[in-house]
Amino acid sequence: MRLFLFFAFMIYAGKRAHGCEIKFTPPMVYVVFGGSTSANCRTTCNNTDGIGWESSFGGTGLIEGRSTLDVNLVKVNDWSTEPKCYTVYSDGTQDILALPITIYKMPKKVFMPKPPTLMADSEYHLLQCSVFDVAPVNRLVISWHKGDEMVYEQKLEGTDRRPVNKSVEATVDIVAEDNGKKVWCEAKLDLPAEQSPQPMQSELHELTVYYPPTFTEPKNETLENVVGTKISLNCTATGNPTPVYKWNFADPTLKGMQGQNATGSIFTLEFRTPVVYKCVASNAAGERTKYFHLDKPEGNYTTMGVLLGVFLTLAAVIIIIGAIFVSRNGLCTIPRNIY
Ligand SMILES: *[C@@H]1O[C@H](CO)[C@@H](O)[C@H](O)[C@H]1NC(C)=O
Ligand SMILES: *[C@@H]1O[C@H](CO)[C@@H](O)[C@H](O)[C@H]1NC(C)=O
Ligand SMILES: *[C@@H]1O[C@H](CO)[C@@H](O)[C@H](O)[C@H]1NC(C)=O
Ligand SMILES: *[C@@H]1O[C@H](CO)[C@@H](O)[C@H](O)[C@H]1NC(C)=O
Ligand SMILES: *[C@@H]1O[C@H](CO)[C@@H](O)[C@H](O)[C@H]1NC(C)=O
Repeated sequence: MRLFLFFAFMIYAGKRAHGCEIKFTPPMVYVVFGGSTSANCRTTCNNTDGIGWESSFGGTGLIEGRSTLDVNLVKVNDWSTEPKCYTVYSDGTQDILALPITIYKMPKKVFMPKPPTLMADSEYHLLQCSVFDVAPVNRLVISWHKGDEMVYEQKLEGTDRRPVNKSVEATVDIVAEDNGKKVWCEAKLDLPAEQSPQPMQSELHELTVYYPPTFTEPKNETLENVVGTKISLNCTATGNPTPVYKWNFADPTLKGMQGQNATGSIFTLEFRTPVVYKCVASNAAGERTKYFHLDKPEGNYTTMGVLLGVFLTLAAVIIIIGAIFVSRNGLCTIPRNIY
């Protein structure tokens, strides 16, 4: 009977203890390494003998007659600390719960190596970012920036509570317009807004992007000229590095110009005969070709042809009429009849 009663009590007490909960306010704390914070611990039951805190950097011991307790965590400098709150109930049962704590530390350094000279529009480019001495890794967010835009963001994973070094790479699209833009990476800790420290940036680097020559007007050009006119062919292209130009006859069998080997973006010549010139603009990123068709003014020729035709027709008509008149005279020999 006694034994039975004892067991009944045990079961009852167990149930009782289970129905009680330890609660923290705030439910989770964030503290910078070496900094201080505070939290309140209370139990949802009021039949407590006492309540206390324990941690690797000190505690309170059991404080009797209370069901709630504030604790100040001062100079938290133990990465693995797990402060715990415990309660002892009047029935002799105990409860213990660890305070969820995030101890953080901003990186000592964020580093992006200077990117090499990049080629526009080639498959992809990797931009590296290294972050030193940061904790905790599962709160670390690294982002890559180009000009005014964030081009990539990566949330890191891991279980380390202690500071780590991390080196990650992002794949970034590079286009011609990126030449001269600044790139950098940035590390931040994803913490509640009011706790969040300022993000930390790497050094800024100016991008050097090579891109092939691009003509403002990429189509072939046709120029009509009168023999003897001075003309300028404009092959100017933008590109990085600055393009170099080479002019030639489009027809490689034509000789004569080869001797000149013009190299400027603008080629000036005196028009002599219809021909096609070829300009090749090239740089380290590629080359582009543009053709200049030099023609005689065709329209004027047609007009002249028409005029000439009309003139010749008129002349022919006059001659024919004249011939008929002469031959009639010959046949009729009017003066002779008169004779
Ligand atoms: C204990 O809490 C109950 C309700 O949860 C309340 O009715 C009672 O008055 C409290 N007792 C003491 C001693 O605070
Ligand atoms: C991180 O890098 C620094 C400098 O290279 C080094 O001194 C330190 O030991 C590294 N820390 C870890 C956790 O690897
Ligand atoms: C330009 O002219 C060249 C040679 O005459 C020709 O091969 C090419 O197809 C032309 N390109 C365009 C875009 O008209
Ligand atoms: C040649 O073309 C470029 C680009 O279209 C232009 O900026 C430049 O003024 C032109 N040069 C001449 C001499 O026409
Ligand atoms: C012109 O260029 C061609 C091909 O690049 C070269 O073979 C030739 O020797 C050059 N001529 C002169 C006069 O520079």
